[in-house]
Amino acid sequence: MGKGFYISKSVGVVAIILGAGALATIIALSVVYSQEKAKNNDNVLPTDGGSTKPPVTTPAPSNNPWDKYRLPKSLVPEIYHVTLWPRLTPDETNNLYIFTGNSTVEFKCAEVTDLILIHSNKLNYTKLENNHLARLTSVNGDKAPSITKSWLEPLTQYLVLQLDGKLSKDHQYQLFTEFTGELADDLGGFYRSEYWENGERKVVATTQMQPTDARKAFPCFDEPAMKAIFHITLIHDAGTVALSNGAEIRKESWAKKIPSYPTSTMIFKLMNVYIMSLGNVFSSVYFMMWVQVRIFARKPAIAAGQGDYALNITGPILKFFEKYYSSKYPLPKSDQIALPDFNAGAMENWGLITYRETALLYDEEFSSNSNKQRIATIIAHELAHMWFGNLVTLRWWNDLWLNEGFASYVEYLGADEAEPDWNVKDLIVLSDVHRVFAVDALASSHPLSSKEEDIQKPAQISELFDAISYSKGASVLRMLSDFLTEEVFTLGLQTYLERFAFKNTVYTDLWKHLQMAVTANGTKLPDTVHNIMNTWVLQMGFPVVTINTTTGVVSQEHFLLDPDSEVTTPSQFNYQWIVPIKWMKTGIIQTPEWLTEKSASGEDWVLANLNVVGYYRVNYDVNNWRKLLTALSTNHEAIPVINRAQLVDDAFNLARAKIIPTVLALDTTKYLSREREYMPWDSAIGNLDFFFLMFDRSEVYGPIQDYLREQVTYLFRYYKNMTDSWTKVPNGHMDQYNQVNAISLACRTGLEECQNLTMGWFTQWMHTEINPIHPNLRSTVYCNAIAAGGAAEWEFAWSKFKNATIAIEADKLRYALACTKQPWLLNRYLEYTLMPEMIRKQDATSTIVYIANNVIGQSLAWDFVRARWSYIFSEYGGGSFSFSNLINGVTERFSTEFEIQQLRQFKEDNAEVGFGSGTLAVDQSIERTIANMKWIAENKDTVLKWFNDQNKA
Ligand SMILES: *[C@@H]1O[C@H](CO)[C@@H](O)[C@H](O)[C@H]1NC(C)=O
Ligand SMILES: *[C@@H]1O[C@H](CO)[C@@H](O)[C@H](O)[C@H]1NC(C)=O
Ligand SMILES: *[C@@H]1O[C@H](CO)[C@@H](O)[C@H](O)[C@H]1NC(C)=O
Ligand SMILES: *[C@@H]1O[C@H](CO)[C@@H](O)[C@H](O)[C@H]1NC(C)=O
Ligand SMILES: *[C@@H]1O[C@H](CO)[C@@H](O)[C@H](O)[C@H]1NC(C)=O
Ligand SMILES: [Zn+2]
Repeated sequence: MGKGFYISKSVGVVAIILGAGALATIIALSVVYSQEKAKNNDNVLPTDGGSTKPPVTTPAPSNNPWDKYRLPKSLVPEIYHVTLWPRLTPDETNNLYIFTGNSTVEFKCAEVTDLILIHSNKLNYTKLENNHLARLTSVNGDKAPSITKSWLEPLTQYLVLQLDGKLSKDHQYQLFTEFTGELADDLGGFYRSEYWENGERKVVATTQMQPTDARKAFPCFDEPAMKAIFHITLIHDAGTVALSNGAEIRKESWAKKIPSYPTSTMIFKLMNVYIMSLGNVFSSVYFMMWVQVRIFARKPAIAAGQGDYALNITGPILKFFEKYYSSKYPLPKSDQIALPDFNAGAMENWGLITYRETALLYDEEFSSNSNKQRIATIIAHELAHMWFGNLVTLRWWNDLWLNEGFASYVEYLGADEAEPDWNVKDLIVLSDVHRVFAVDALASSHPLSSKEEDIQKPAQISELFDAISYSKGASVLRMLSDFLTEEVFTLGLQTYLERFAFKNTVYTDLWKHLQMAVTANGTKLPDTVHNIMNTWVLQMGFPVVTINTTTGVVSQEHFLLDPDSEVTTPSQFNYQWIVPIKWMKTGIIQTPEWLTEKSASGEDWVLANLNVVGYYRVNYDVNNWRKLLTALSTNHEAIPVINRAQLVDDAFNLARAKIIPTVLALDTTKYLSREREYMPWDSAIGNLDFFFLMFDRSEVYGPIQDYLREQVTYLFRYYKNMTDSWTKVPNGHMDQYNQVNAISLACRTGLEECQNLTMGWFTQWMHTEINPIHPNLRSTVYCNAIAAGGAAEWEFAWSKFKNATIAIEADKLRYALACTKQPWLLNRYLEYTLMPEMIRKQDATSTIVYIANNVIGQSLAWDFVRARWSYIFSEYGGGSFSFSNLINGVTERFSTEFEIQQLRQFKEDNAEVGFGSGTLAVDQSIERTIANMKWIAENKDTVLKWFNDQNKA
């Protein structure tokens, strides 16, 4: 698609109207990390909205409607009128940041009832008539029943109203409430984010509603199928900016009404309850196409042009999706805003997407090509959701995988549109397929699809936001699109979106529409889309397909990383899949087939799963493996580059599963001295990482280092030559990535020339204050220099971190600071992770994981997490998405009897506190540790011998 269709910036720029010169400059008196205070005390707020909860006689779970997590079907919301007024300075009496608001929700009674349940969490209500927490009126003019009791249910998060009579079926009612909430820094609901600008503290009020925190901002029917029309009014200081999902309808000045508090109102209209968001403050760039596209961020970031890249690519990507979906962008505007504090990567609020700064802001001087790719793919991911997820929404969270898997697949298509030279679509194999294979090969994995009734509590919903939903979902949808062909896939997708626009679906609705497309097109399949996909969606795991070229037999079995692990979940398909197979023979692509019990044999080598479009691993008989190894070492380019990465990854994992010998896997690395491509190298480094993790505390470490240093030296020299002794940047996106691998592995394995190079650059930076290091190389150069250096290097990097003006640079430093070999620096750094003025809350868990990755930091990080678990858990939110990363991260190296005992003890000790979204990760860690112990016992001697043999040769 040409780039000419949108108006160039100079034409399109409209006055920046947002009072940018007069942004709120708020200096808070003191920082109150008030969630701490508010803990276990929902009535800490100043208003008198205490509950009038009736005495509970039965403490055991009862059958009352308000004890259930799902809403009854009796009431259906239609229109909300919500007014919110966030205070960007702390309340004088108790030093808390608060917001006040009121809401009128109009709903229809679908089933006769005398009970109103509406979600509400951590809100305090003003008592209205007769001391009740709400007022009910009838829309039709007849008299509404009276409220007899009203109270809050903190566990199930309801406001409950008992009525003295029944609501009539099909009649409409209005429920009015007035409430106060805390504008805490807890990254959930209506919350606040802070940053410094020219020595002044700035406060932003923003939201993260998904999945279950809209109820923390105002009372609402907080389920994805409860779509409604929202009229949002925001009251805010003159000189600040208010944004909402919809376009602004009206602006009113309140200055006259409340003379002491000059404010203005903004009214927005929007739909869809779980994806609402409000921003405040910020400057903006303004850009016109057929929709209005704007990027918001801190004022200096916009002034420095850091929003330009996002602005440049949003138009083409939106255009791409309009074509892909055959559906116009459903809203008049598309705002994207970068927030200093944000837990996830981004959130697809309809028409107002929120991002971490690193996921939206690009600066040529500071951003690496990997940062740039992340921005392009995340923007594409979120824009994809504007249709798939927002226009059409899955009915309940159990189908989350389809929503996230889909966006995680098409993000590559959208990014490819914006950056056609990158070959970014190939990278899904490393970032999603191979990544999730590691998790999905465990007996503790779970199927993509969950039963609706199994997903009830907010923590259960949060747990679904995992690698299975995102990466496996993306992988199987890519496979589906491939075997249907993109033409048929998009045809089905288009009718699905058309049919269900503004409605809700279940995942089988998509299969139905794809089947219609298959029928219309006459595509031949071995079974229906529904039946084929069920084998991938309803059972966990994936197959290893074995092609035995001596017998010609092709077979499949459930691939388990630990062959001794026990699969306790039965599968209706007995862990058999309907497998599409693309393959080649001695470099010649063959006609694709579906797995049957007979196939290839003969003299040629056979290679299956071309470009890894299938979600499975492949094994061969020893003869064919040998032929493939020969092909790699004589003419590796006869094998497509993605499949070279696959051969390495499959071999290492098959070896872990004891399907092939470990030495055969190691043999796949011997050709690397001739390999120059990124994907195979990255695959090898990823797999060898496991050897580092298992052996970097043992005598095998030295021989591994010697072997890899030898292999990588060729690559290092190749890039030195290509870059004219490190003075130029390689042209290709993949080459830029592989240059980083070359330097990183060369330095890590102790190549002196590399260490001199990186230390030289860093020292030059320290002495001259001018940073000579290209952004692509910064993470790895900083890390190596800090590892080789001492306190001076660390302190220098820390001061650069604290003063960084762009989050992307700060992130690189934050990562590198974890590389020091000094235990005292690491321990102090760990302490910093729980001090939000040192390390932002959103970055705490990843920083701890970085430290744990360091062999010196591993045990320090584990001790730290164990000792502070209940604090981390309560302070960093049970609904946060990163607990599984934290637990998996700090236990990754575990491989001893002693460590497994500690892990079990940890699980037992904290059973009461819980693990939230990390619950599954605890079990996965235990399983992984057991597997590691066995693996070391069985492999250490052979591995040591293999590396010694290579080094002698
Ligand atoms: C809601 O609050 C705003 C601001 O305090 C007020 O102007 C408005 O009248 C309130 N709405 C109702 C229905 O009371
Ligand atoms: C954005 O696009 C303009 C016009 O094509 C170009 O000059 C500019 O370099 C681009 N900016 C970025 C950061 O890509
Ligand atoms: C392939 O078939 C031969 C002959 O039956 C058998 O010995 C060998 O173990 C098989 N290899 C694999 C990987 O299944
Ligand atoms: C460096 O690159 C040039 C041109 O690509 C090539 O001719 C030369 O042989 C290379 N030198 C080394 C040492 O690899
Ligand atoms: C690395 O630096 C040291 C000290 O400056 C020097 O002696 C050595 O020759 C350098 N090594 C290489 C390979 O450049
Ligand atoms: Zn998403």
